[in-house]
Amino acid sequence: MMVGRACALSARDGSRLGGEPRFVDLLAPLRRVARRAVRRRQVARAYDMAKEIAPDLIPEAQLLDVGCGSGFIAHHLVALRGARVVGVDVARTTEAAIPYTRYEGRYLPFDDATFDAVLLCYVLHHSADPTLLVREVRRVLRPGGRLVVYEDLPITPFDRFLCWRHEAAWRARTGPCTFLDEAGWRAVFSAAGLSVHAVRRLSRWRNAGNPVARVRFVLEAEGSLP
Ligand SMILES: C[S@@+](CC[C@H](N)C(=O)[O-])C[C@H]1O[C@@H](n2cnc3c(N)ncnc32)[C@H](O)[C@@H]1O
Repeated sequence: MMVGRACALSARDGSRLGGEPRFVDLLAPLRRVARRAVRRRQVARAYDMAKEIAPDLIPEAQLLDVGCGSGFIAHHLVALRGARVVGVDVARTTEAAIPYTRYEGRYLPFDDATFDAVLLCYVLHHSADPTLLVREVRRVLRPGGRLVVYEDLPITPFDRFLCWRHEAAWRARTGPCTFLDEAGWRAVFSAAGLSVHAVRRLSRWRNAGNPVARVRFVLEAEGSLP
């Protein structure tokens, strides 16, 4: 693709060969470098998260990553834990080479009690109906199966500003967000038949570009569906 000034400055070496002038996009290498830097950051962040999640999974767990995005977290868990993964998202495709299904964002296209573990990494606040999505996750989990949730928390006015900024960036793609505090999420999980196995506040500085308060839950599916 040609870009403004770059086109004006570009070499017209094609004319020397007697053909059409050939324009050289001088910004293309810079764009390639930027794309590579973004992908490296995504892959490295996903590796750190996968390392954190791995101890909460049984070996070779049947694992569903809901809202998998790039799919790199699930992809790393195949290597780290032998997980048999499936990713679902509302997006058209995923980047990592994992089995992937696109769905409409409400009803998970799987039978009851299919998975040993489910991930919801920074996804619930994007869902149009988080209560329904958590109930769906509980339905597809085996009794005793685990749900790992990462969420942003609107605690201080600065957090609320960051949540507002995040919503503004995503609104056109996935609609308005629902940010709850820790007690709010606990109530949603409890109503769906999920008990809290572990909960931990995370450092704001794990993502210096978005230093919002964060929480990580590990939940367990209680014996029978509520
Ligand atoms: C902030 S990204 C997180 C991606 C990935 N989980 C990660 O941590 O790298 C949020 C993802 O949730 C997806 N999403 C939004 N609404 C969803 C829904 N109702 N069900 C599943 N995924 C959804 C978006 O398409 C996006 O890929």
